[in-house]
Amino acid sequence: MGDTLIVYGTRRGASEVSAGVIKDILEGEFGLDVDVFNVKQLDKKFSLEPYANVIVGASIALGRWARRAKKFLGKNDFAGKKLAIFISSGFAGEALKEGNEKKYEKAMEDYMTPVVQDFHLDPVSTKGLGGWWKKDVTDSDSYNWNRDDVEAWARTLGKIFVG
Ligand SMILES: Cc1cc2nc3c(=O)[nH]c(=O)nc-3n(C[C@H](O)[C@H](O)[C@H](O)COP(=O)(O)O)c2cc1C
Repeated sequence: MGDTLIVYGTRRGASEVSAGVIKDILEGEFGLDVDVFNVKQLDKKFSLEPYANVIVGASIALGRWARRAKKFLGKNDFAGKKLAIFISSGFAGEALKEGNEKKYEKAMEDYMTPVVQDFHLDPVSTKGLGGWWKKDVTDSDSYNWNRDDVEAWARTLGKIFVG
């Protein structure tokens, strides 16, 4: 059983890939022990109790969160845990690619802020990451996931979790 949990909800797979990259950095560079679950795998008996750090990642499509990932944030008590949240969002990814901070902030205001506020969450970090929305991942017009962005955020989290 690890000390750090990543739970993700995905439609196209970007959140799952990002979760794997984050796990590799937290384990390889920060010595953490990370368990990763698709939110669909979790049953009612699942408990956050063993984990000091929890990362929740969710797909955004048509302005909506992957339903179960959002529900996971709403129904669990994260008191005493370091909670971090990421979204996989085409708009956030586009903003990162362009280096457009205003656009990035807008994506976060539209998708991240309402959920953090509605559920009265107090995350140590939130992040918008990119994704892809066609099967053909060689089509750069429909792909803006960037490993470097994911790794950089994972290192930010590593410092927060270990520090
Ligand atoms: C039908 C559809 C609708 C989408 N709508 C949005 C959207 O409203 N805002 C956004 O930022 N990205 C949108 N996207 C891009 C997704 O964020 C992208 O596919 C991302 O990879 C989703 O995460 P996932 O791969 O973990 O499912 C959409 C993608 C699809 C396929």
